[in-house]
Amino acid sequence: MAKLYINEHVKKGHINPEIYGHFAEHLGRCIYEGLYVGEDSKIPNVNGMRKDVVEALKEMGVSVLRWPGGCFADEYHWKDGIGPKKDRKKMVNTNWGGVTEDNSFGTHEFFELCKQLGCKTYVNGNVGSGSVQEMSEWIEYITFDGVSPMADLRKANGHEEAWKLDYFGVGNENWGCGGNMTPEYYGNEYRRYQTYVRQYKKDAPVRKICCGANSADYEWTETVLKTCFAFPHHETGFMDGLSLHYYTVPGDTWENKGSATDFTDKEWYKTLAKAKKIEELIERHGAIMDTFDPEKKIGMMVDEWGCWFDVEPGTNPGFLYQQNTMRDALVAGLSLNIFNKHCDRVKMACIAQMVNVLQAVALTEGAKMILTPTYHVFHMYKAHQDGELLQSELSDNALIGIEEDYQVPMLSESVSVNEDGTITVTLNNLSLDRGEDVEISFRDLIPASIEGVILKGDMHDYNSFEEPSKVKEESFEAYEINGHSVTVNVPACSVLSLKIKG
Ligand code: AHR
Repeated sequence: MAKLYINEHVKKGHINPEIYGHFAEHLGRCIYEGLYVGEDSKIPNVNGMRKDVVEALKEMGVSVLRWPGGCFADEYHWKDGIGPKKDRKKMVNTNWGGVTEDNSFGTHEFFELCKQLGCKTYVNGNVGSGSVQEMSEWIEYITFDGVSPMADLRKANGHEEAWKLDYFGVGNENWGCGGNMTPEYYGNEYRRYQTYVRQYKKDAPVRKICCGANSADYEWTETVLKTCFAFPHHETGFMDGLSLHYYTVPGDTWENKGSATDFTDKEWYKTLAKAKKIEELIERHGAIMDTFDPEKKIGMMVDEWGCWFDVEPGTNPGFLYQQNTMRDALVAGLSLNIFNKHCDRVKMACIAQMVNVLQAVALTEGAKMILTPTYHVFHMYKAHQDGELLQSELSDNALIGIEEDYQVPMLSESVSVNEDGTITVTLNNLSLDRGEDVEISFRDLIPASIEGVILKGDMHDYNSFEEPSKVKEESFEAYEINGHSVTVNVPACSVLSLKIKG
């Protein structure tokens, strides 16, 4: 039997709600059709936003939304997306399928969507093909309340009040699609661009996010921080966050990433082992950040993460549409547990992407919508948002896997306590064939009531438009309380959440 020790007296840090963040890019059917259908659509909508999707996302709990990209961000010119829709410029979306972008979803629509979702706002600026002036004017347009050319333009376009912009990304993947820059070059550009991200609202600062590394590119982190961080006259060296992008790709090449639904046991474990690698990346990039910022004032913003598979057969390869099985659920559960456990440094994480793209939480087909296993994991982990991480440790946690290079611990966990004292334990069993008894022991707390929810199934199970509820949350009662301990049987291939009150 495995053991999970929880010391409810030791709080290890605050779980920023933004760890439960999302990303929506102008890519495939994420924005258009997935989130936005326009006011004239037959699909029920509020100011153009799909009612079904927005309601489901609100129930799941979206803390922050990043927009407009991604690679798209460094080709996006925000002025093309404001004013009367019929006059908006059309452009070619060169990154994603070469389709025509009609700019009918722009700045006003993004802030309307975030208002409906009740989430924080994260806009990603254009460094790759934009100018300092363009970026600076966007900030003025969004956040300035007084009299100025951009504030007047916003008002003329029907929005009197400035919006609250919580985060602003100064470029995206500038080591790649955002301009193919060297870290020294980007570091200097970052210093210049961020200067003009003005703080018009002293009580509501725009938090600036610097473009961080791809996966294990530690040199990028080191060099960018060396260039941007070390300014004695400024506490955080001009940045509030440094991003990190990491995708779980089971295949060995980008040409052959592997199918989302048709995979072997071996590929199951390989995918989970690759997902677990994010822990090493957080720790190693974190160690470099510590040398500059030992007090951890800068957040590590994992603003793109998730599974990236081959597209669904027959769909546009530029649209990155993929299905989502129990394997995605376990990747999500494992990753969110890792982010929680590193909440001293990880201040934001945005899964890629919200609807119809990569590891989406919802899929649509015309007027129909389904929720994926990943959706349910976010829903089951919702109580961690804004919680305090508690000290927890697993023992007798077997290493499992088929290939030697891709072994993973069978169980993963994180534990937090919220304001009313409810303790949330999220436990995953990554094994395909072995259910495991776990004895959860508290230091002093005697559990009085437990509310359990489980997501389980066969590794290939997924929700389809024909069978939308094959994978669903179910109530879990297979626990036994004994003094300071609770014993649960965690089935193979499952995600479990327990809300425990003493
Ligand atoms: O999420 C898809 C793409 O992946 C993003 O546009 C880019 O930032 C990353 O390479």
